[in-house]
This record gives sequence, C-alpha cells and structure tokens, in this order.
Amino acid sequence: MQKQTPLQTLNQKIAEAKLGGGQARIDKQHKTGKLTARERLDLLLDKNSFEEIGMFVEHRCRDFDMEKQQFLGDGVVTGYGTINGRLVYVYSQDFTVFGGSLSETHAEKICKIMDMAMKNGAPVIGLNDSGGARIQEGVQSLGGYADIFYRNTLASGVVPQLSAIMGPTAGGAVYSPALTDFILMVENTSYMYVTGPSVVKSVTHEDVTHEELGGATAHATKSGVTHFACENEVACIQHLKQLLSYIPQNCEEDAPVYAYETKDDESRPELGNIMPQNANQPYDMRRVIEGIVDEKSFFEVHKDYAENIVVGFAFIGGRSIGVVANQPAYLAGVLDINASVKAARFVRFCDAFNVPLLVLVDVPGFLPGTDQEWKGIITNGAKLLYAFCEATVPKITLITRKAYGGAYDVMNSKHIGADLNFAWPSAEIAVVGGKAAAEIIFKHEIDAADDKAAKLQEKVDNYNDTFANPYKAAARGFIDEVINPTDTRRKLIKGFTMLENKTMAMPRKKHSNMPL
Ligand code: HXC
Repeated sequence: MQKQTPLQTLNQKIAEAKLGGGQARIDKQHKTGKLTARERLDLLLDKNSFEEIGMFVEHRCRDFDMEKQQFLGDGVVTGYGTINGRLVYVYSQDFTVFGGSLSETHAEKICKIMDMAMKNGAPVIGLNDSGGARIQEGVQSLGGYADIFYRNTLASGVVPQLSAIMGPTAGGAVYSPALTDFILMVENTSYMYVTGPSVVKSVTHEDVTHEELGGATAHATKSGVTHFACENEVACIQHLKQLLSYIPQNCEEDAPVYAYETKDDESRPELGNIMPQNANQPYDMRRVIEGIVDEKSFFEVHKDYAENIVVGFAFIGGRSIGVVANQPAYLAGVLDINASVKAARFVRFCDAFNVPLLVLVDVPGFLPGTDQEWKGIITNGAKLLYAFCEATVPKITLITRKAYGGAYDVMNSKHIGADLNFAWPSAEIAVVGGKAAAEIIFKHEIDAADDKAAKLQEKVDNYNDTFANPYKAAARGFIDEVINPTDTRRKLIKGFTMLENKTMAMPRKKHSNMPL
C-alpha cells in the first residue's frame, strides 16, 4: 500500500477529529433533539470565522484501557472566531466523546482559550454539554474543574463570560457557569443540578424528574440560576448573539454606541397615557421602557424571575444602556429578597462593563413579613443599595410614581450617586404612604374625634397633599427636574449624551466587602 503523504495524514486527522465520537453517536445526539458541538459553533459564529485550537489534543488517562479509546480533541472544540465581526473565544463540549466529560486535557484546552481571551480582551462563550468529571480519571479531572473555576473568577469583570447550557451539567460542573456573567438554558434538553434525581430521592425521598429539578423553566422561574430559558438551541444561540450586541469586549472599552441621528422631535405622546388615575392601580412598566428606548431594542434579562423588578439592556439614541425598573404590575413593584438580588447582580454587571444605567422607580417600599425578615431582606436588600452606591457608570433615575421609605434611597437616589434625577408630575416621594403616616402622627387627634373615619381621611388627604408629589424633593435638589412624561425620551437621550465622558474614582482599597 502506498504511504500517505504528510498532507494526506493531516487531512485524515482533521476528518477524524471532526467526527468526534463517530457517526453513530452523532445520530444519537440528533435523535435526542440536540445539535453537535460543531453545528452549534457554525450557528454561533460568523461564516468561515472559526479558527480551531487544540484539534489534536488527546487525553493522558491510562487506566481502564483508556489508552485504547482516543478521540482527537478529547471532547471539546475550542478556538476563536467572530460574531457580527467582533472577536470571541469559544469552547463547545462534544457529548459524542465520553459524554462531553471533563478530563485533565479537556480542561487544559478550555483554560488555554480563557487565558487568550484575558490577554486579548474578548468575551468567552462556553457551550456546555457534559456528563461532568471524566469518571475514568480521578483527581486530575477535579483539578481541571478547579483550574477553570479559578480562571472564571480572575476573568470576572475583565471580559464578559457567557454560558449556554445545552445538555447535562451536574455536580461541581455547575459552578463554572455560576461564576460567569450570564447563563442561558435550553428547555427540555438541558439541566443543571448539584445532585440528580436519584440522589435527591435517597436523601430527601422526593420524586422529581431531571426537568423539574434542574430544567430551564425551574431555573428561570424558581431559582433564578439561569437568566434565559430558550425554546430550542437555535433560539439560545440567537440570544447569545443579541446579548453580546449590548456589551463591550472588555472592561476597558465603552459600551457599544451605534450611529443614531437624534430627531428634532423625540416626544412620545403614548408615555403621557400610561399612568392610571388611581395611584393604587397597576400598569406595566415595560410599556414605559418601550416608550423610552429605541424601537424594539429592549432585551429583558431574568424575565420570569422576581417579576416585581424588570432588568434588561436597551439602546437609547443608539447608546447601550442597562435598565432597572420596579414593576407595579407585579406585587405592586415591592422590593423583596429575590428582586434585590436580581437587580444587584445586573447593576454590578453593567458597572463592571461600562454600561450606563437607567433606573425607573415606582416602589411602595420593601416587602414586610416574617418570611422576608428571617430569610434576610436586610442583608439582601443591602446588596442592591451597595451595587448602586458603588456603580460609577452614568446613572439616571426617573421616578414615575411611588418612591417610599428606604426604597426611595435604594433606587438610585441622588444621595447615592445618581447623576440626573427626573420625576414625572405623578411622583410621590415620602417616608410612608398617607394612611400609615396619618395613623402614626395624628393618632391622638383621630382617636379623640367623634367621626374617626372622617378625621383619618382628612389627615390622609392633608399628608398626601403635602408629600405625595415630587416638588418637596425638587425644592431640595434631590430631583433635578420634574418633566412632562411625553418629553422623557428626549431628556434621557440628552442626559446620557451629556454624561458620556463621566469619570469617577472610588476610594483606594484591596476590594470592597459587599453584604453577601
Ligand atoms: C466518562 C461518561 C461520563 C463521565 C457519560 N459518559 N458521562 N464518560 N465520564 N462522567 C459516557 C457514557 O459512558 C457514554 O459512553 C456516553 O458518555 C453517553 O452517556 P449515556 O449515559 O449513554 O448518555 P445519556 O443516557 O444521555 O445520559 C447522560 C448522563 C449520564 C445523564 C450525563 O451519562 C450520566 O449520568 N453520566 C455520569 C454523570 C456523573 O456521575 N458525572 C460525574 C458527576 S460529579 P458511550 O461510549 O456509550 O458513548 C462531577 C464532579 C465535578 O462532575 C466536580 C467539580 C468540582
């Protein structure tokens, strides 16, 4: 037989590597409704932009006859490419090779591209589909995980890190995605948990399926672990691309700004019709957001979790911003533990990556009750306060209606560093609501009255007339301007443009100690 030329050998190896665990396992992957590691990269990256690194890496395990089972690339495809022309580093686990399990060499490949991403200042995207630690290895595999965790932590706040979960992610493996900035999951084909249904059954005697325990819906609605639950893998990849469009390559870059011609008339009459007549009636804050930002640009994050606060990215006048907004249509927009933690995490991401913040306020206060107190609303509410205080990006606040009690301070008030504070004429800024105030400060007078109900109402009206408006705060300069709602978009475009060169240094320290 004729000897292969060097080029033939190379081509044969490339073909072998591209086949991963072989056609039979690829067919099995497709049958379970999943794409392969390479098909996912094809969808994610610009055409012909992918350059692979480490295609011929082989594992070094010599136990259990493993030397006889070699697959080029060792279960993960790594490299770099572009998304809409912007550089990204990627790894995509190949479930057809040992179930995408993580060996020492598999981990080394991931670490290599993470190190390159850090040196060159570009995002890292991980497409996870793995049975966890390679069982035939031992501590080498666990060490490999820890090497990744360490790099995830060092990269945090330096380059954006995005994790798409497209298959199983179990045990300690969940902690790499958990250390990254955003997690996206695919409904019905992905799950994440520390221990699976069989361990749960033996320890707590609960009967639960993979999907119920750690599927996309569970983590999008109950735990908040995932930021996005996507219908299928294609939708998940679309979400990854859209998410990237709002964020810079690294912490040294400004957030994206697209060419936008400011129109003479940026007024939005529809914003004048949103506020209900009755201050206790709900309205959907998303209508306010959509009325303010560039058309169809609002990209909501953590949509189905802690719905009393809305967070997400948008463009305004072509400029990327992060929006944090109380949602009066859900639990009256009250701040509770989950809402505080959700918003705090988002604020910290935006601040780390120079995305300016728009904060829309309609909040009756913090949620009372033993459940919240005993679960730590004090510490958890402080997270949001801390995140806003520490954020040095341009910060603009608009109070649409209620801003009561501590929640007024927390929601990016002037006092904690907001650059511009606007209020609509419907704003109510006070320590407590009119009824609670009257019952406390006029208690004796009300008790002594013949018609207690009439007296109470008189005092409530009196308190509301005095405080349930934005003008006391405006008189102090805590509100910079009370604006016509229809004029909001114009004011915000001008405000963010005015703030684009903001610089602000925080006191020197090793690192802060936020209330975790
Ligand atoms: C080696 C593995 C593997 C693993 C799967 N495979 N998991 N090989 N190490 N961890 C292999 C299988 O042998 C099989 O090989 C192929 O991958 C596909 O697996 P199946 O079981 O056929 O697939 P499926 O039915 O879809 O089930 C997927 C699965 C299951 C639920 C992930 O494979 C599973 O339970 N695997 C073990 C999970 C686990 O215990 N991992 C360790 C967790 S602890 P063939 O040759 O047939 O294709 C952990 C600690 C991390 O990860 C700690 C970090 C700090």
